[in-house]
Amino acid sequence: MRFEELSYPDAPKMVTPVPGPRSREALALQQRFESNVVSYSKAIPVAFEEGRGATIKDLDGNVYIDFFGGAGVLNVGHCNPDVLDAVRAQETKLIHALDFPTRPKLDLIQKLVAIAPGGMRDRSKVFFGGPTGSDAVEAAVKLAKFHTKRIGVLAFEGGYHGMTSGALSFSSGKKFKENFLPLLPEVHFAPYAYCYRCPFGKADGSPDDCCMQCAEYVRHMLEDPHSGIVTPAALLVEAIQGEGGSIVPPDAYVAELRTIADDYAVPLIMDEIQAGLGRTGTMFACEHSGTTPDLMTLSKGLGGIGYPLSACVCRDEYDTWPPGSHIGTFRGQAVAMAAGHAAIQFMEKHRLPEHARSLGARMLKRLEEAQGRSRHMGDVRGRGLMIGIEFVHDKKTKKPAEDIARDVRRRCYSQGLIVELGGHYNNVVRFLPPLVLTEELADKGVDIFAKAVEEHEAGR
Ligand SMILES: Cc1ncc(COP(=O)(O)O)c(C=O)c1O
Repeated sequence: MRFEELSYPDAPKMVTPVPGPRSREALALQQRFESNVVSYSKAIPVAFEEGRGATIKDLDGNVYIDFFGGAGVLNVGHCNPDVLDAVRAQETKLIHALDFPTRPKLDLIQKLVAIAPGGMRDRSKVFFGGPTGSDAVEAAVKLAKFHTKRIGVLAFEGGYHGMTSGALSFSSGKKFKENFLPLLPEVHFAPYAYCYRCPFGKADGSPDDCCMQCAEYVRHMLEDPHSGIVTPAALLVEAIQGEGGSIVPPDAYVAELRTIADDYAVPLIMDEIQAGLGRTGTMFACEHSGTTPDLMTLSKGLGGIGYPLSACVCRDEYDTWPPGSHIGTFRGQAVAMAAGHAAIQFMEKHRLPEHARSLGARMLKRLEEAQGRSRHMGDVRGRGLMIGIEFVHDKKTKKPAEDIARDVRRRCYSQGLIVELGGHYNNVVRFLPPLVLTEELADKGVDIFAKAVEEHEAGR
């Protein structure tokens, strides 16, 4: 299969100014009947009708290149035909099965254990809870608490793990939490190796130095009897941070977290919900540093083409809880599991992680060229197809420029490219395209982005 065949051939193709009349009508209805809490469609005012591969069409017939990918869900592309075949075959047989074994569940759990990273491979167990990423995070931490008989969690600055009370407690963004306190007790935040804005103030952000200082501080938090932190039930970390702004820490930092976790007998939970399943150029982001977690959370791409599904994988020796300790009505959605299994098979057959790695490197190179011409592209970073461009008012002071990032996103949208924002200051334009993105669409998307920056800077 050629990836070209998966997407609309003529993207981007804009046939109306945006939002077009049908999108406007849909947005008005949404505003009338859906809670004010909706956010994406306020940032990008559009209503979509169809998606194919790495492209998406709105209600007015405008076709966009999709660098958002449903917030990193659509790794094998919108409506991937192989996955759709598996879905159609399953949906006429059995859809809901609680936690009884079904063919799709058996296929999926065997596959997850077979592809698990490093020392987890063939030596782990899978468990399911609710269907969202937040549910998986809750479940993994719950098992770590049960296993260690401790209650605390050491999470990381810039980390994002979801919106349920536990997951929100472990997430760092203040704006998400400030109206909902108190959350879980004994959650502390350790420095993450965000070298562009080094937590220890190293002006040049020289990664090798900087990252080890962050790791040493994590060690200090666990070592010093007066750090104020009781030994936690888990260290919960993203090997590459997503919502925090596509932050790629040096591999040595992630590897050192493993050593620290071992030294203090704290289970290491890697949240691979966004960075996992091929996105960063390896099946799991922790593999770049050769790190094996004790527990791992998965969701987003796990449901194949957007079916809600999440799972946890734990090393065999952690599977210590008795039956019924963690339950949930939707632990056996057979269609989602068939979709997930078919998606992983597609990834393997078409070597999607390798494709993500080489295409991401090409995009980064072209973005760095654009950065050389720009006053406001402060940092360009990423791994595979998880890319972030951090906007600043001034490259020397690094004053965050959310306003510029927003304007660039708006300009991209009007030219047929969907991108999202994230980062500590919401000033990072994020690319999370389907991994079936072609070189041609990648180049066109980067060109649209670079032109949007150029036009912003020229005041046009
Ligand atoms: C790393 C990570 N963990 C957990 C979550 C929460 O997943 P969900 O939104 O499905 O609850 C997200 C969502 O963006 C995520 O990026």
